[in-house]
Amino acid sequence: MPPPQICVIGSLNIDFVTYTPRCPAAGETLTAAALAISAGGKGANQAVACGRASFAAPDSQDASVAMIGAVGADDPYYAALLRPTLEGSGVSTRGVQERTDSQTGSATIIVEEAARGENRILVVPGANHTGMDQVDAVLARTQGLLHSHLEGVVLLQGEIPRATTLRLMKHFNDPACRAHLVFNPAPVFPEGIPLPALAGTSVLAMNETEAVLMTHSVADHLRPGQNAAELDPDELAPLFHHHAQVHIVLITLGAKGAYFSTATGKRGFAPSAAVEKVVDTTAAGDTFVGYFATAFARFVATGAPLPEFDAHIESAVRRANLAAAGCVQRKGAMQSIPFAYEI
Ligand code: RIB
Repeated sequence: MPPPQICVIGSLNIDFVTYTPRCPAAGETLTAAALAISAGGKGANQAVACGRASFAAPDSQDASVAMIGAVGADDPYYAALLRPTLEGSGVSTRGVQERTDSQTGSATIIVEEAARGENRILVVPGANHTGMDQVDAVLARTQGLLHSHLEGVVLLQGEIPRATTLRLMKHFNDPACRAHLVFNPAPVFPEGIPLPALAGTSVLAMNETEAVLMTHSVADHLRPGQNAAELDPDELAPLFHHHAQVHIVLITLGAKGAYFSTATGKRGFAPSAAVEKVVDTTAAGDTFVGYFATAFARFVATGAPLPEFDAHIESAVRRANLAAAGCVQRKGAMQSIPFAYEI
């Protein structure tokens, strides 16, 4: 059987994280507890989650994981933090382009200790936008890493330009393409995602906030009087199955757990794992998505028809929940994602 292959096309950021007992009010100056500079970006975090999910033991990796993205040239943070963390997690960085025209993306993150490690994030895209706006070049880099004769998984988020994302979705959702698209609309583009772009997506993974914003895509199919913000997952998921042929819908519900639904009728909820103390929720969603995508890629590599994944989806969601629970107990983004052999 060919090894599972996963290609993450997305962002790489340097995270400047301030830990504070509480957030300052407008006009207020507050003394915070600590500042940390760490590797992040939703794309790179998810690539690391896929890489780490594929190490059942420290010396054996069962999936091939590649990162496609862009950073600023000669960036010491990329050289000292991002690249070593990616590579040390079994992720190929051959598809990461170093650009002389822009800086590496950055994120300013405030982690509020009194609010169970809840975060607020401000992102400056930098090279994640300027280096990812030429779709043909991005596709060429992807095709060099994803073997077209094998079925693989492509993972996309919302931190590269929307136009690029839409073109990539069209390409990878085309039935002629052997790749399966896992799309995590995080963050949701302000202009949303048109319903036709979602057509044929294998996995749509959202948190509660993203799920509400993504109802824009299916707004034409809401019943009169139905309020998008009040839809429960059992009402929302079928809209994506029926009107956009999305095969799997996942909705993470924070500390409660995660909901799953497939177009072939398997639905359920997997509660999150118990956590002693939440210190930082950054990258918990990325950990969930990366772990789930890896389980899905293992299934895809078997060549079995998609409906057969119904038998495996619940255990894949439970495992992704466990990994996310491991992540929230450590500080930082990428560095807090557990290896499979640790959970
Ligand atoms: O999902 C967490 C990530 O969001 C952070 O690492 C930060 O870079 C932002 O992109």
